[in-house]
Amino acid sequence: MAVQLLSAAPRHESMPEFYVRPESQRPRLSEVVSGADIPIVDLISSDKQQLVSQIAHACQSYGFFQVVNHGIPRELLEKVMEVAAEFFRLPREEKAKLYSNDPAKKVRLSTSSNVRKETVHNWRDYLRLHCYPLEEYMPGWPSNPSSFKEVMSTYCKEVRQLGFQLLGIISLSLGLEEDYLENALGHEQEQHMAVNYYPRCPEPELTYGLPAHTDPNALTILLPDQRVAGLQVLRGAEWIAVDPQPDALIINIGDQLQALSNGRYKSIWHRAIVNSKAERMSVASFLCPCSNALIAPAEKLTGEGSPAIYRSYTYDEYYKKFWSRSLDQEHCLELFKSY
Ligand code: OGA
Ligand code: NI
Repeated sequence: MAVQLLSAAPRHESMPEFYVRPESQRPRLSEVVSGADIPIVDLISSDKQQLVSQIAHACQSYGFFQVVNHGIPRELLEKVMEVAAEFFRLPREEKAKLYSNDPAKKVRLSTSSNVRKETVHNWRDYLRLHCYPLEEYMPGWPSNPSSFKEVMSTYCKEVRQLGFQLLGIISLSLGLEEDYLENALGHEQEQHMAVNYYPRCPEPELTYGLPAHTDPNALTILLPDQRVAGLQVLRGAEWIAVDPQPDALIINIGDQLQALSNGRYKSIWHRAIVNSKAERMSVASFLCPCSNALIAPAEKLTGEGSPAIYRSYTYDEYYKKFWSRSLDQEHCLELFKSY
């Protein structure tokens, strides 16, 4: 049977077997650590040097952090979540028009993560949009709900600006020029968005919203559901539950920053779990290199004693490799090692 949008069904009383993970791959929710949490960084810090060292610590020790006072208005974040929820509540016929499992499409609604490659499915529907340049892609975005394009495009511009600010601080935190990463990724770097919808799940212990994965892009900015937790981050051998903070955004290092930093900063495994009590949503924004950008460890971070761990490659090559696989295989960067 072809896999279908979860959000096309009004309610799930039982879970079809192709969502059930084998025993050894289940989330073991009772072992997840709560209350540990990832660092919180306040971006209105008068002392830039302090900000740089906080971010260095967060990137080096966690690969994940939350930012507050990031400058994106709360009202806008609320509108983004509202319009996203409204989209997934549309009638199934309306959503069927956008459905596609082809990762090459620039606007598509899909389910699970990569249904063409995976053997077990995930409890998630998602709308994936290319977002830069906006004039090029926005016409193909959903026009229902009627405010979708306006709200999401405003958010995309704000996120891009925040992303560039963070790339500047991250560059400095690696001892590089402030504009190093922006130059390396390309000023016209791509931006993608995944609007994730995780419905209530009758058997949350047996499946995932998203199984453990690393993000293939450079930097991810996640707008989490404020009411329902679900993101978990691997720290050592333990899964840590991330508690959403009011108005905070969650930032993580993607595979490309791991490569550019020659492995100093890690693209950390993370996952989304589901629950039986409430549906959950999130909006992930991915800053990606230009597809022809040549990615290689920064020269300043290689040399005597620390040779380049990764070979150089174009993002286009990386991205194709990523989508040719199932989400929860080995770290995709392992395939780009230079020795
Ligand atoms: C992602 C992701 C986590 C979440 O979209 O890549 O990791 O909480 N999402 O939805
Ligand atoms: Ni992710």
